[in-house]
Amino acid sequence: MAKSKQQPEEPACWAIVHPGLEDIAADEILRDFGGEVKKKSKGIVVFRPKRLDRDILQLRTTEDVFVYGWGTDQLSYRSTDLESIRKWTALEADWPTLLKIHHSIRPKPKGKTSWRMVVQMTGEHGYRRYDATKALAKGLVGKFPASWPEAEENASVEFWLTIHGSTGICGIRISDRNMRHRTWKVEHFPASLRPTVAACMARVAELKPNQVVVDPMCGVGTILGECWTLAKRKARGDMAAWNSTFLGGDLDPHHVKLAGTNLRELGEFELRPWDARRLPLEPESVDRIVCNPPFGKQLSTPEEIVPLYQQFVRNMDRVMKVGAIAVLLVAEPAVMKESIRKYDWKQLRYQPIRILGQPAVIMAYRKEPPPE
Ligand SMILES: C[S@@+](CC[C@H](N)C(=O)[O-])C[C@H]1O[C@@H](n2cnc3c(N)ncnc32)[C@H](O)[C@@H]1O
Repeated sequence: MAKSKQQPEEPACWAIVHPGLEDIAADEILRDFGGEVKKKSKGIVVFRPKRLDRDILQLRTTEDVFVYGWGTDQLSYRSTDLESIRKWTALEADWPTLLKIHHSIRPKPKGKTSWRMVVQMTGEHGYRRYDATKALAKGLVGKFPASWPEAEENASVEFWLTIHGSTGICGIRISDRNMRHRTWKVEHFPASLRPTVAACMARVAELKPNQVVVDPMCGVGTILGECWTLAKRKARGDMAAWNSTFLGGDLDPHHVKLAGTNLRELGEFELRPWDARRLPLEPESVDRIVCNPPFGKQLSTPEEIVPLYQQFVRNMDRVMKVGAIAVLLVAEPAVMKESIRKYDWKQLRYQPIRILGQPAVIMAYRKEPPPE
C-alpha cells in the first residue's frame, strides 16, 4: 500500500473564555470541531484545530479566537519581561503565515487595511499595560506593511497580547464581535447573560431529541437561543427530526416581548409571561431546565432570594420528569443548594466561574426517582 502523505499540521489557535469555562470550551473544540487541546489556563484554551477555516467562527463557548504567535508560562512579573515580549514577538511568531490565515478567515474590509494592538493584563506586574504595549509594538516593527494606518478601534488586523500572571500569549484575532455577542441577539437588558456562558450551560444540559426544554426566567431569551443553536448543531440542521419543544417565560412581560424579538429569526419557541414560583406546566412534563435566576443584588432586597429560590425549586421539582436535568447559574450557590437539599436531586456538576469579574456557579442536578 502506498504510504499516505502526511498532512501538514494546522497552526495553533487560542481562545479567550470566561474563567471556569475552560473545560467546557475545550470539550466543544474537541468534540464538535476536532483537533487537539494543547493547554488550558485561567481564561485561555490553546488548541490545534483539525482544520483551520471560517468554521472556527462557529465556536459558541469562546469569547474570541486567535491564531497563535507565541506563548509562555514563565513571565517573571519583573520589567525584564518587556524585552522578552519584544524578542518573542520579533523572532518567534511566523507573522506572514498568521496574517495569511487571518485574511483567509476574515475577508478584507473595504478601504485600506488598518491595524491595532490590544493588550490585556491581570496580576501584579512590575510594569504597566502601556509598557507591555510598547514592547509588543517594538517586536512588530517590519512585520506588516508600514503603509497600514493604526486605528483606535474597528481595525482590520488586531494583534493581541494577553497576560494573566506568569502566562503571556500573543497572536492575531480571527473572530469579531459576533462571536461573543451573536447576530441574533439584538435586544438586551442589564442582567442579560453573555451568550457564551449560556452556550456552556446548554452543553452541560446534555440536550437530546424529543425533549421539553424550559427556561422559567428567560429574560431576553439568551439561554433558549443557545439551547436551540446547540440542538440544531447536534441535529445537523434538521430540527423537525430533533422534535423538541423550547419553552420560556418571565415575570416581566416586557422581557418576554424582547425574547420574542431576539428568538424570532432563530427558530420556534413558546414564550409567555408567567411566575416561576407558580409555573403553569403539567407535573412531570419537563426534561431540561436551563436558567439564570436573578442574583440577590438584582432584587430589591437580597433577603428576597431565599423565598424566591425555595418556591422556584419546589416548582421545578413538580414539573420535572424523573431523570430530568436542571442547569442553574447562580451567584448565591449556598442558598440554591439549601433550597434543593430536601429534594431527590443528584448534583452532577458544580462549576465556579467568573462573569465580568463577578463570581458565580453553574450547578447541574438530575431529578432522581423517589427512594423505595
Ligand atoms: C438574571 S435575569 C435572566 C437573564 C436571562 N438569562 C437573559 O439572558 O436575558 C433573571 C430574570 O428573572 C426574571 N424573574 C424574576 N423573578 C421571576 C419570577 N418569579 N418568575 C419568572 N421570572 C422572574 C427577571 O424578570 C429577569 O428577566
